[in-house]
Amino acid sequence: MCGIIGYTGPLSATPIVLDGLQKLEYRGYDSAGMAYMNGNGKLSLRKTVGKVKDLRAICDDDEATCGIGHTRWATHGGVSNTNAHPHKVGNIALIHNGIIENYHELVNEYDLAGDLASETDSEVVAALINKLYDGNPNTTIRKVVSLLNGSFAFCILFGDHPGIIYCVRNVSPMVATHCKDGSFIASDLTAFIDFTKRYFIIPEYTIVTVREDGIMMEDLDGKTVEPEYLEVNWDISDAQKDGYPYFMLKEIHEQPDAITRTITPRIVDGLPDFTEDGVPEDFFENVSDITVVACGTAMYAGMVGRTLLQKYLRIPVTVAIASEFRYEEPVLSENSVVIVVSQSGETIDTLEALRLAKKYTKKTLSLVNVKGSSIARESDYVMYTHAGPEIAVASTKAYTVQTSMFYLLTAKLALVQKKKTEEEVRRFIGNLEKVPDLIFDMLGSEEDIERLTKRMLNAKNAFFIGRNLDYTLSMEGALKLKEISYIHAEAYAAGELKHGTIALISEGMPVIAIASQTHVYSKMISNIREVKARGAYVILLSKDEKITDDALCDEHVKLPNIADDFTMFASIVILQMIAYYTAVGKGLNPDQPRNLAKSVTVE
Ligand code: G6P
Repeated sequence: MCGIIGYTGPLSATPIVLDGLQKLEYRGYDSAGMAYMNGNGKLSLRKTVGKVKDLRAICDDDEATCGIGHTRWATHGGVSNTNAHPHKVGNIALIHNGIIENYHELVNEYDLAGDLASETDSEVVAALINKLYDGNPNTTIRKVVSLLNGSFAFCILFGDHPGIIYCVRNVSPMVATHCKDGSFIASDLTAFIDFTKRYFIIPEYTIVTVREDGIMMEDLDGKTVEPEYLEVNWDISDAQKDGYPYFMLKEIHEQPDAITRTITPRIVDGLPDFTEDGVPEDFFENVSDITVVACGTAMYAGMVGRTLLQKYLRIPVTVAIASEFRYEEPVLSENSVVIVVSQSGETIDTLEALRLAKKYTKKTLSLVNVKGSSIARESDYVMYTHAGPEIAVASTKAYTVQTSMFYLLTAKLALVQKKKTEEEVRRFIGNLEKVPDLIFDMLGSEEDIERLTKRMLNAKNAFFIGRNLDYTLSMEGALKLKEISYIHAEAYAAGELKHGTIALISEGMPVIAIASQTHVYSKMISNIREVKARGAYVILLSKDEKITDDALCDEHVKLPNIADDFTMFASIVILQMIAYYTAVGKGLNPDQPRNLAKSVTVE
């Protein structure tokens, strides 16, 4: 949700800010802007509706050694040049990621209306800083921050302090680094990984002074805070397209490696082992119930987890949408395990849900992809997924690594709680270890998938149907299709169709049917016949060698002959490719779907 970057140092700031913004564009891309400062303290602004390439076109020749840039995902106020960041009031320029909830009150209380040109909450903060400025940026920021309600990451330039960027955050993420090429600050380290793999997370409510020769931090009492440097284990090539036309396709293809990286260190002698994650054995004992909390695709990974956990553990497992969980009264006890799932580790609703869960249980566990992120730091235990950077807005490899973690967790819990014998768990893990190769094989059907999406390009609606594990998967398949192709897609438990939804089936409407679960296979086939008989264009995914029955389906995708619990990995790759080729076939950019952003740090 909005990407921000700041640089000050010996190099030219403009290309660094623009290149950084390009890498942060997944966070928002309706408008972009930058402010920069030369040694004389003159603050200049460039901003435009559109993407970073449009911004580049209007500021590529600008010379500066200190600059801040912003790529916007609109919350308050429409998409316009005036609402784009930076906001300049007086001799102060500010960029913001987050939402200021009490901005109306501040306008009235401090009589700021006359200073405002935009409809944004962010400009109010620039105006407030300008109004309360006492010549000392630190004391002013301290004062202003104490007046704000909401989430924020700010980078601020003061015209009378040339070459220095001031920053502060609450909830919204911000990382920084100082290296031989200067000092950098950004929403996420992909923005400056070209320069260094070392970075630190800015602690909340810490005022940061970013200068060419170093970064200083102090808390709100004026005490110095030392940075805690981390190092990433991936490099810039992982965040580039590597010859693929889009990040999404690259990330679909990265799934075998991402799963291998995630599961291999956690399998010791054929059994699940979380010692390296620092999770004690008693975490897995005395578990009365499990609640999975997440948003979007991470929540759908939780749905797969639920089906498995409940099947093998025979205890209640629920999946909660984080934004709902927060405002319900959760039914949790000290023996409840809460598993929080998040690629970014920064989704605000998931983070707040975690904070709520911690009031009830000391058994919170997060599955997170981004090292050191807020959710990872605040949960009692964290297990990192190793998907590497996921740039495409539509999540693919993050989902499969999260899902693979649920398989490992199921195996571990079943073993510790003696619900399965060691022999059975070894067999289960053996199947999990086959998954990377199985996905690799499925990727070979890419051309077929591209061909069968041709008939979907003009569709207005589509259904995804399945039963049990295949139903949970259908939800993720439908989400993928909607978010990047803009075709209205819904997932249905196949048995439920006849209770209303089947009325919507019309001639040629795509229905993607997954029939991989043996115990419900024949019921599933009957449901598919029902939609086919009403004119649907049916794409069937099943383990059958071949299907020649035209009354059943129009297209058949053969799934591998592996135990039913594991076919979902093959099926999801097909569903991801269906969404991808439908979007590309419609001439859409799957990496940056309209209205979406990858990291949702607003509520
Ligand atoms: C956004 C993204 C989704 C993602 C969801 C949760 O909506 O577009 O791809 O699944 O946020 O994000 P998280 O980082 O918590 O997994």
